[in-house]
Amino acid sequence: MATDRTKYTLLMRILHWLIAVLILGMIGVGWYMAGLPDEHPTKYDIYAIHKSIGITLLGLVIIRLLVRFFSPIPKLPHDLAWWEKLLTKTVHFLLYALMLLVPISGYLMSDFAGFPVEWFGIEVPGLVDDDMDRSQGALAAHGILPYILLGLIGLHLLGSLKHRFFDKNKDNDVLKRML
Ligand code: HEM
Repeated sequence: MATDRTKYTLLMRILHWLIAVLILGMIGVGWYMAGLPDEHPTKYDIYAIHKSIGITLLGLVIIRLLVRFFSPIPKLPHDLAWWEKLLTKTVHFLLYALMLLVPISGYLMSDFAGFPVEWFGIEVPGLVDDDMDRSQGALAAHGILPYILLGLIGLHLLGSLKHRFFDKNKDNDVLKRML
């Protein structure tokens, strides 16, 4: 619910920065490990860590969505143009959608292929029957969606920097609501 408060709640701010750091790290690690040769001695150890943190992120994003739903949300500044408000809301929606779809596609790629997924050594229950075609589809999605997410994070960052440094009205500085 949108309110007159000037900042997001502390829990929302902690979740925002924790998830941001983990996602950027996971994109770097994912890109690095996927490019390693199969015979590399630690490739599949890195995969296991990537999967565990990915499952953690899925949990954190679900918690964040629930917290957001029940938290007071600061209204967007009045001074923003209609298209800026629309762009902001669209980017936020797409960020949430991709923060869910990226780990889900990663999980499904393994589960459809019949590979067990472990969360720091604890087996995560399988949800789907083995199906190599669908695993390939999930693999293709997981090979693209993280980079679309990265592009959106870039757009999100540019938007907040524009409001902080280029808008004349200092009320438009939306970054301080998340600090
Ligand atoms: C937000 C969470 C996640 C992010 C940001 C992320 C990001 C990435 C990226 C960027 C790649 C490299 C893609 C490429 O260049 O081909 C990758 C690969 C991979 N990810 Fe994730 N991932 C996440 C969650 C998961 C989860 C939950 C799993 C499985 C449970 C998973 C399993 C894998 C596997 C197995 C690969 C290697 C695919 C291959 O061998 O080509 N990921 N991930």
